[in-house]
Amino acid sequence: MNLREKVTEKFRERFGYDPDYIVRAPGRVNLLGEHVDYNDGFVLPIAIDRATWLACSPSQTPQTTLVAVDLSEETLFTPETLSAKTDTAGRSLPSWALYPAGVMWALGETQLNTPALNGAYTSDVPQGSGLSSSASVEMAFAFAWQTLGGWFLPPMERALLGQKAENQYVGVNCGIMDQFASACGEENRLLLLDCRSLEWRTLPLPKNTAIVIADTTKRRTLTSGEYNSRRADCEEAVRLLKKFVPDIKSLRDVNLETFNQFASHLPEQVHKRARHVVEEIERTQLSIPFLENGHIQQFGRLLNECHDSLRNLYEVSISELDVMVQVAQSLPGCYGARLTGAGFGGCTVNLVSIEKVEDFANRLSAGYEAKTGLHPEIYICQASPGATLS
Ligand code: GLA
Repeated sequence: MNLREKVTEKFRERFGYDPDYIVRAPGRVNLLGEHVDYNDGFVLPIAIDRATWLACSPSQTPQTTLVAVDLSEETLFTPETLSAKTDTAGRSLPSWALYPAGVMWALGETQLNTPALNGAYTSDVPQGSGLSSSASVEMAFAFAWQTLGGWFLPPMERALLGQKAENQYVGVNCGIMDQFASACGEENRLLLLDCRSLEWRTLPLPKNTAIVIADTTKRRTLTSGEYNSRRADCEEAVRLLKKFVPDIKSLRDVNLETFNQFASHLPEQVHKRARHVVEEIERTQLSIPFLENGHIQQFGRLLNECHDSLRNLYEVSISELDVMVQVAQSLPGCYGARLTGAGFGGCTVNLVSIEKVEDFANRLSAGYEAKTGLHPEIYICQASPGATLS
């Protein structure tokens, strides 16, 4: 049974009738530009062929009833219970429900109509895997309320409201990349977003190359603190650099040369975090002509450099991610490999020659298992469309 059928059946079981709508919103994998979205940098993600599927219909009552199929849990809330983050019985909302409730809250703040709905959702984006399961849930619900509420917003606007939900309701100070990719994804295309101007365009995928996702199976836990503290270090760097670069608004405003001139004035940890960001923004800019001209080897090398930087300077890797990357980089046909997403667990992204990809996947799996005792999940992913009715 595919996820569309599964969610339809679960909806029917719970509510006793067929859902009016099925929404699909994808996860994402980021190729380059990691931890730079909240520093006004550039990101290069694709929306992937793994997604949240939501079956929904308007509710005949004032309350929204949600079934989290994968957890076999259910919750009920109304616009009135949202600000207290409780269900209709006054209990705290379960953590999974903060994402849909946060979206309802953020849409309501913008005076958009969010009619009560009955919904059931499931997902094959593993949670805590660096593939943006939360953003895909947010974008599924934003699309559902757009459909039921009878209004329309361009995908980027929906993405921004999803980010607002996550920042202000869930409490994770994330950037815009994940919601953007889930809302704006395009089939067979890479997305390039300027996180300052929010202008974006698509680029062709590298030719004869597979994008392989390798899941360490180690899940990220309790990392919003680590994530938020990285972001605070970047803000501190900007504050300290202002003395020397008065116009600086974010780390995007210093190139490497300028940064090198003043970096010694920064405390060590702030220096390391900021250096990653400044260099990663340069790497992403460098990568565009490589992609446009089909220089996949050079592009791949930037991915490898990005991993080193995330490990040594940004310090968001873990040993399983390092092992997965080391094994991958040693294999024939691998142009580049690195951890993807926030880090602290989850997946790596690998660019691999199509001809070698089967052998690559087998050897990566065996090599990783031999070194860690863990059985990884490895799959070739396809760039897929953003959130939509399905
Ligand atoms: C998480 C956040 C994104 C981004 C990445 C790191 O996925 O949600 O906004 O900051 O981490 O690049």
